[in-house]
Amino acid sequence: MKADSVKIADGVYWVGALDWDARDFHGFAVPGMTYNAYLVFGDEKTALIDNVYDGFFPEMWARIEDAFSKEDKEIKIDALIINHIENDHIGSIPEFLENCPDVECYCTQAASMGIKRQHHCLADQELNVIKTGDTLDLGGKTFTFINAPMLHWPDSNFTLYNEEGILFSNDAFGQHICESKRYDVDIDPGYLELHSKRFYANLVQLSASMVLSKVAEMTEAGYLDNLTMIAPCHGQIWKQPGTIVDLYAKWAKGEADEKITVIYETMHHSTQKMAHQIVEGIMSEGVEAKMHFIRYDPESDILADILDSKAIVLGVPTMMNNPYPKIGNMLAYLNCVSPANTGVRKKAVVFSSKGWAGGAIAKLTASLTEAGFDVLEDEAIEEIYVPDDNDLEKCYDLGKKLAQMVKE
Ligand code: FEO
Repeated sequence: MKADSVKIADGVYWVGALDWDARDFHGFAVPGMTYNAYLVFGDEKTALIDNVYDGFFPEMWARIEDAFSKEDKEIKIDALIINHIENDHIGSIPEFLENCPDVECYCTQAASMGIKRQHHCLADQELNVIKTGDTLDLGGKTFTFINAPMLHWPDSNFTLYNEEGILFSNDAFGQHICESKRYDVDIDPGYLELHSKRFYANLVQLSASMVLSKVAEMTEAGYLDNLTMIAPCHGQIWKQPGTIVDLYAKWAKGEADEKITVIYETMHHSTQKMAHQIVEGIMSEGVEAKMHFIRYDPESDILADILDSKAIVLGVPTMMNNPYPKIGNMLAYLNCVSPANTGVRKKAVVFSSKGWAGGAIAKLTASLTEAGFDVLEDEAIEEIYVPDDNDLEKCYDLGKKLAQMVKE
């Protein structure tokens, strides 16, 4: 196949793969994906930073061939930097090693163990373990390694290319999108921020406290002093790196907007009617409201709206004496991602329509409390069968009251 590399700095090329067809990545709804890998030419050695997903090796290799051709050099890759061992970055490594059997591999201690459990064929592969502050000299060009455990896996690592001030951050600061252009400044900034937020909310926020400590550590060490670009392994390359560093700091601190996310399921439209009236009450106060119908909206979108909301409202019908089962996946996802990990507990209110026994309210309250929300139990609304005008007015008033709270 034929595929071009993209020169992003002197002797630095993007050689990744474009997954135009991806729509789901382990449950994350995506409009396509990008697996970024980068080739860096020093005076003496050439290094490849990261790899691509299973099935995309031919595309990466075609771009590598193109980069060597542009540099007017024979193909020879001396070093492979493995910043993270999730399969979207190492899936193609066995094929890559067939082409480059003598390459020196570099990765963190955690990665050195994990990669052999992912690719059993690498059981005998020699790996050089890198720690924060370790360097690699390519001849006139040097890397400094910065271990970044839990951003977002224990094995995660950042690689700083010192001479050009490029931080190869792997997953951190990425977006799950697929675009024909490579830079932040090439695409609509609102779309870029939305997809950066989706990525953070779903993949990084569990480690919010570590985002703040890692940025502080890197600032103190001077690693960010001459930063010109952040080149993640997904999505656009940041030519304005301060934009995404500031957004990560905001999200990691739990700073939220005057915004409430209403999430609901319904069986016979009763909780749906209640949800609509709650949103009317929120809107009456001029507060932003986002509405999600659970059966249709991906959890990854709902998580992104929760991230910058000060409160959520969750409505689920009662089925027998339990929450309607379609909510189960959403609750499991919330628990998995832990939106409360910033230390800022968002407010939550639950509501339900029941036939007879009830029980959903207590169970939803317990689930949201476990997920880290500050559930306002006295504000819960539970109606019997179809809500009448008085019931709907209560819902409107709840929305209004919550909106007033988030404005305080
Ligand atoms: Fe893009 Fe954690 O893999």
